[in-house]
Amino acid sequence: MAGYVLAIDQGTTSTRAIVFDDGFRIAGVGQQEFTQHFPRSGWVEHDPEDIWRTVVATVRTALSAASLSAGDIAAIGITNQRETTVIWDRATGEPIHNAIVWQDRRTADICRQLREDGAEEMVTAKTGLVVDPYFSGTKIAWILDEVTGARARAEAGNLAFGTIDTFLLWRLTGGRVHATDATNAARTLLFDIEANDWDEELLKLLRVPRALLPEVRDCAAEFGMTDPALFGTAIPILGMAGDQHAATLGNACFRPGMTKSTYGTGCFAVLNTGRARCHSKNRLLSTIAYRLDGQTTYALEGSIFVAGAAVQWLRDGLKLMERAEQSGPMAAKASETEDVYLVPAFVGLGAPWWDAEARGAIYGLTRNTGPNEFARAALESVCFQTADLLGAMGRDWQGDGDRVLRVDGGMVASDWTMQRLADILNAPVDRPVVLETTALGAAWLAGHKGGVWPGQDGFAASWHLERRFEPAMSAVERGRKLTGWADAVRRTRTS
Ligand code: G3P
Repeated sequence: MAGYVLAIDQGTTSTRAIVFDDGFRIAGVGQQEFTQHFPRSGWVEHDPEDIWRTVVATVRTALSAASLSAGDIAAIGITNQRETTVIWDRATGEPIHNAIVWQDRRTADICRQLREDGAEEMVTAKTGLVVDPYFSGTKIAWILDEVTGARARAEAGNLAFGTIDTFLLWRLTGGRVHATDATNAARTLLFDIEANDWDEELLKLLRVPRALLPEVRDCAAEFGMTDPALFGTAIPILGMAGDQHAATLGNACFRPGMTKSTYGTGCFAVLNTGRARCHSKNRLLSTIAYRLDGQTTYALEGSIFVAGAAVQWLRDGLKLMERAEQSGPMAAKASETEDVYLVPAFVGLGAPWWDAEARGAIYGLTRNTGPNEFARAALESVCFQTADLLGAMGRDWQGDGDRVLRVDGGMVASDWTMQRLADILNAPVDRPVVLETTALGAAWLAGHKGGVWPGQDGFAASWHLERRFEPAMSAVERGRKLTGWADAVRRTRTS
């Protein structure tokens, strides 16, 4: 069989399905955005039915764009926005509440209480995470408490929980498989990343009945066959990983010390730390990079909640531009004498601050501040936040590390932003030829498991550099900018 592999990349703002051929080239793409719901300040929801509809539609579009049918596809890999929480009825497959999205802050009080009760040390020791509304555990408890009768139904085994990967797998297999992979499980606050299992103490702490939980498999595993009614022929699902983990694979960061940073809705930097878990002393996450053949590779992760979302806000909220691509050229025209800092804490601050109550702020406005200066402040905020993450990683990680950062995601198409990133980091930034690294990583898991794509070495050899951005800013200028940013963050934080 030809080595066509289909990746389903279910992201925060859009769903993509991409068919890759056995040269890792894109043969067909389907993409659809879906509605974001903001029922209250700091709350973010998705309708799981919207997500499901976009998955089915984009898979069909990608197949037809590639002039292929389901029978030509060797395997499917699923990758997804992580932590976003769905609970559904096992009998009907119907969600009992909208999905609570990773960005949602509604459980900030529950998290504060857990920290005040002294639970964080145990939680971090087992999960590698911090106690923050970002993760699934407190979102599950919130749904069980708020939806009438849900807790009793969960305890009776009538409901199922899943992050988006799990929900899609359930639907794709016609309700036959309730499973997840180790990377997605590691984002729930319920999974012990060293024991590689759900943990009773954590389940009790967060009041989550075990009967809700999916089985946890390797990232490359037999996840079941698609229901033939969906695409014409059943297709094996052989790969699954959270999007940042798939991007780590897609960017071929297989060696300890390699780092990638993905610029989508948020920004997530992941440093491969190899077979040994690295405990962060600087409020980064210690997480599972991927699990293959029962072997766990660990990572340090820095998570920023708003990256591309800041540009989206300029475009859709402030209407300062028509297309996100205009932000780079606008930033290039910004006045050098205007020092404007945007701290995009629209849904709080992520690593290394973990301040759920903080909200966005902008500093340094003058009568001369205009759309160009806003664009530069938004793009620079992404660079400054990356610098904070990599600084913390450098303090945590004692092993050998590349100074080079591999990047991917929608924002990296902007030359201006990538140059500014290299300048602020004072380190080279490598942009690969294939920017669809998240989908490619998921496809590699499935294609390799299906025996139609090569193993790690062959795949890593296919990674090609499109352009390296070398730092060119003076140390004085960089220092001045970083000091201004640190001051802006200090003024924005609530704790
Ligand atoms: O942890 C959230 C992350 O997985 C979302 O990624 O690409 O949708 O911003 P993205």
